[in-house]
Amino acid sequence: MKPISLTRFLIQEQQAGHINADLRLLIEVVARACKTIATAVGKGALGGVLGDAGTGNVQGEAQKKLDVLSNEILLEANEWGGHLAGLASEEMDHAHPIPNSYPKGNYLLLFDPLDGSSNIDVNISVGTIFSVLHCPDGVSEPHDEHFLQAGTAQVCAGYTTYGPSTMLVLTLGRGTHAFTLDREQGSFMLTRQDLCIPEDTQEFAINLSNQRHWEAPMQHYVADLLAGKTGPRGKDFNLRWVASMVADVHRILTRGGIFIYPIDAKCRDKGGRLRLMYEANPMAFIVEQAGGAASTGRQRLLDVTPNGLHQRIPVFLGSKNEVAAAERYHLQANANPG
Ligand code: AHG
Ligand code: MN
Ligand code: MN
Repeated sequence: MKPISLTRFLIQEQQAGHINADLRLLIEVVARACKTIATAVGKGALGGVLGDAGTGNVQGEAQKKLDVLSNEILLEANEWGGHLAGLASEEMDHAHPIPNSYPKGNYLLLFDPLDGSSNIDVNISVGTIFSVLHCPDGVSEPHDEHFLQAGTAQVCAGYTTYGPSTMLVLTLGRGTHAFTLDREQGSFMLTRQDLCIPEDTQEFAINLSNQRHWEAPMQHYVADLLAGKTGPRGKDFNLRWVASMVADVHRILTRGGIFIYPIDAKCRDKGGRLRLMYEANPMAFIVEQAGGAASTGRQRLLDVTPNGLHQRIPVFLGSKNEVAAAERYHLQANANPG
């Protein structure tokens, strides 16, 4: 049977009373922007989009041309439709309220316009991550503080992976669903409904070069994974690290695994490596809705009360039982300090 399009899926969700017209429009607009980004990514060197932009973002990171371009595409697509009160991005210092010259809606949109920037120039998968929140009642010009809502408040989250095929993975809080871009038709088609992450795994994703900077419980946990069958875990583990969170999480949604970016001595002052509001929270929502788990190592990620738009956080997510195992090492260390 021919798969249904994202448009039809969203109309059905609206007809069932699960979403309103504004949220449907919002997702359609984000999906359309992602198609534009996919086209730019796909052109590579021919589109003149590779390389550095020569600028930096608020987090002190050098921006790539595609970081800046993807941010502009998402901003321009979403500004005028009337579905948003404001938006915020990795590439913008502060939240951007919708200008008074445009109609306004009641949603807030956060995004990492281009995730995995270090992979752009080497033709490895990159992605876009987004999260949708309600604008607090009575606020017509949302600023940074109005975006600081716990991950449990998300009404929708998704990502697009620009890989061998372009896929949009989406949750509206009732399961996680995957859509594949039909390049001839120009439509995202529903190719996997209700993704389900296996509870157990023998695969982990981590940047192992940071090992010497990790805290003691992380050292202990990964040493036990690497010890394999004859170690305390009693099974061999495989290691995979794309260095694009979107691609690593997509693999885990497809065949299980655990993705970890722990706190380490290099990023301790910042609180971690990955950003809570537009990387960790949307991915945690997507993963939980697929039956997986997401944690800071010490608590459920979605329960964290944010304190800054660009706040960073340690991330453990994926197969439920493995996330619980990683948490046990941290909780035991808390219980027996020193
Ligand atoms: P971004 O390109 O949006 O800044 O995010 C990159 C993130 C994430 O995608 C990835 O998991 C991680 O950084 C890679 O970190 P390492 O460079 O330490 O491998
Ligand atoms: Mn990112
Ligand atoms: Mn990014």
